Amino acid sequence: MFDLIVKNATTSDGQSGVDIGCKDGKIAAVEAGITAEAKETVDAGGNLVSPPFVDPHFHMDATLSLGTPRMNVSGTLLEGIALWGELKPIQSVDDIVERAMRYCDLAVTKGIGAIRSHVDTCDDELKGVQALLEVREKVKDYLDLQLVAFPQDGVLRDPTAMNNTIRALDMGVDVVGGIPHFERTMVDGAESVRLLCEIAEKRGLMVDMHCDESDDPHSRHIETLAYETQRLGLQGRVAGSHLTSMHSMDNYYVSKLIPLMVEAGVHAIPNPLINIMLQGRHDTYPKRRGQTRVRELRDAGIMVGFGSDCVMDPWYSLGKADMLDVAFMGLHVGQLSGRADMGWCFDAVTGNSAEIMGLEGYGLSKGCDAHFVILQAKDKIEAIRLRAHRLAVFRHGQLISQSNPLQYNLALPDRAGLTVDESQVRGSIRTS
Ligand code: FE2
Repeated sequence: MFDLIVKNATTSDGQSGVDIGCKDGKIAAVEAGITAEAKETVDAGGNLVSPPFVDPHFHMDATLSLGTPRMNVSGTLLEGIALWGELKPIQSVDDIVERAMRYCDLAVTKGIGAIRSHVDTCDDELKGVQALLEVREKVKDYLDLQLVAFPQDGVLRDPTAMNNTIRALDMGVDVVGGIPHFERTMVDGAESVRLLCEIAEKRGLMVDMHCDESDDPHSRHIETLAYETQRLGLQGRVAGSHLTSMHSMDNYYVSKLIPLMVEAGVHAIPNPLINIMLQGRHDTYPKRRGQTRVRELRDAGIMVGFGSDCVMDPWYSLGKADMLDVAFMGLHVGQLSGRADMGWCFDAVTGNSAEIMGLEGYGLSKGCDAHFVILQAKDKIEAIRLRAHRLAVFRHGQLISQSNPLQYNLALPDRAGLTVDESQVRGSIRTS
């Protein structure tokens, strides 16, 4: 006797017409024609059933703050950082909690099951850390929130940042962050990488640094990050976020760099929406794309996951917690248009990012947590093409969000005829 059977699913690894049996919050069977009884049965109707979306790079302390205290007029990264500096002293812990909880609710309805959020530690009161530790606890039944201690103003450049970053880790923040390209010099940047990786090694933590978020081809802190990962034995526990300078680097240098990253087992987290928006701002034409070398990194064997980075905050006015928007942009900017490449872009916002975050029990095979989302799409490529509607979201085998099917006017002929328009979609029915 199962607690739940999802009938007639197409899985993200390409199986069709399979049933997913769940018991005690775990997936107990994935096979065609399960005949055992269940307390509840859901018909997936041949739609794609995927493990939840995973966002490996986000800023939950800043999200939904758009316009407070003012808008980013230039739309640039540096004005965004300055604007964030204006907002920090005037926001309260309760403000941050309230915005973050609203975002988490939205994320759940969009099928996100895990988020790695950086939290700014350049604040002597550590308001963001206090708030997001509270949020991590509040949402744990329906969302895995992993926090990165992020010294936004530079762990060496800001006089109290190192102390505050260590305080944040003592308070329970999960991952060590950094921003070497924002330190005063290249030498300081390299030193910040060394110091922060040593902290992670001593504490047995993962590392995820904003690394080389720049168009400067000489911003090569990823080289130091790979070196320190190797030196300290942190293989598999370190990620470089953004890595946009790699787009502008000399090809010969990159031919040495990527093998060093492979050797160190460093993961890569591009953030396509934000990178294409914020990079290349000093260029006239031709204008560089602001995304790292996704195809080359992936083909070399580096684990690449796409992050969303920002939603309605000082850096980015748009966004709706939709990891399929992220995959869609990453696909275009990376020119990943082959059939296998497009499917891989779906993996970049699901399984790849789960692996980077070190999530346990993730997946759609027997023994995994019964966390999954039913998408109104027949496969991964259609899901990206349509930024497919989320029909139902399950956590530990329990329905936590659902909505009625949409009429897809642009769907392929065999997918047309689905009913109900958007006005009838119900919101989240989160149970916790
Ligand atoms: Fe970021």
